[in-house]
Amino acid sequence: MSLKGKHIVLGVTGSIAAYKSALLTRLLIKKGAEVQIVITPAGKEFITPVTLSALSGKPVISEFFASGDGTWHSHVDLGLWADLMIVAPATASTLGKMAHGIADNMLITTYLSMKAPVFAAPAMDLDMFRHVTTQRNLEILRKDGVQIIEPAEGELASHLEGKGRMEEPEKIAAILEKFFTQGTELDKIKILITAGPTYERIDPVRFIGNFSSGKMGFALAEECAARGAEVLLITGPSSLSLSHPRIRRVNVESAREMHAAALQAFPGMNAAILSAAVADYRPETVAEHKIKRTEGEGITLTLTPNPDIAAALGAMKRADQLLIGFALETDDEEPNALRKMEKKKLDFIVLNSLRDKGAGFGHDTNKVTILSRNGEKQSFELQTKRETAKEIIDTVFIGDGHLSRISCS
Ligand code: C5P
Repeated sequence: MSLKGKHIVLGVTGSIAAYKSALLTRLLIKKGAEVQIVITPAGKEFITPVTLSALSGKPVISEFFASGDGTWHSHVDLGLWADLMIVAPATASTLGKMAHGIADNMLITTYLSMKAPVFAAPAMDLDMFRHVTTQRNLEILRKDGVQIIEPAEGELASHLEGKGRMEEPEKIAAILEKFFTQGTELDKIKILITAGPTYERIDPVRFIGNFSSGKMGFALAEECAARGAEVLLITGPSSLSLSHPRIRRVNVESAREMHAAALQAFPGMNAAILSAAVADYRPETVAEHKIKRTEGEGITLTLTPNPDIAAALGAMKRADQLLIGFALETDDEEPNALRKMEKKKLDFIVLNSLRDKGAGFGHDTNKVTILSRNGEKQSFELQTKRETAKEIIDTVFIGDGHLSRISCS
């Protein structure tokens, strides 16, 4: 009942796809919504108001006045009542009228009175859809804030193949559901995120580091916080800044500092995402004074291993905690990542390869494959790090019901 108590105005227009609005009505009602249908005169030629009112449990509105007793149907009241309006199917004609305010039917006056967010799911023949006029109207509507649910490709009523089929009711219902739940899915979930490089001091002016910018970890922190999580971001040196009331940032320099901060915080967390590029080794000793250059002579640094934060958290992980690691590989990518997931007792590992253009250190984009302990694998296209963060969060928390496994301590 994810749409419980939500008031949805469903606009139905004159398209063969109008039969799908009956299914959409059922789905929305099943998810707990109250649905008020407004149909255009042309819409009634494709599906009867009797079917729609039986499914929605409310009289379908089409005219400005009820024909029997002359009761005025107030589009203004509908605009105030609704939490959301969706026009599905939306014909080229209705999209054009919406874009230009041609208020000659109840659906358009309702749209013009709408105080709630509006979605439209176009349905038409492929040539009509790609016509410059339709595309221009869609552009106007997008600028006006209408969320367009792109039509799918496939066989059309004209028996032609192409883009123009109204998106399936299940998908539309899922989009609306997501719209209402976004920003709250991770409510009360506490997430630890490590980010950036670590610097390992050689002497007071020099260090061993790496090219990590922190962009991926910061994007994850922002995405988690945007969905309602409380985030503790433990970051190595990074020039990035962020401010969100639900993100607490702890700055560290070295792997050992990050290790200490992460181990201390982890018991109070529901999950940890380890995106930091932690230096594997540090100089065994840190020179107290700047090491002087001796003409013609090299120097030898002895390096000692740093603690593995991921492995340490894996060893102390409870059954109600999720642990997600990253693997940045240059070769033999997947077997290496799987080995790391096993060794560090991770639930998921996000693999990015330095071989992929635009992926990895410093870029604003990333291309990842997410491998899970249960043997699942999902590969994503090159996209911005924020989009990548969304996919990671969707996969590890939302998919497969993992969220219910981690308690809200
Ligand atoms: O073994 P490797 O460094 O490739 O493993 C990568 C994963 O382990 C990343 O999630 C990284 O943040 C984490 N890691 C760590 N502590 C280390 C080394 C890596 O947490 N010392």
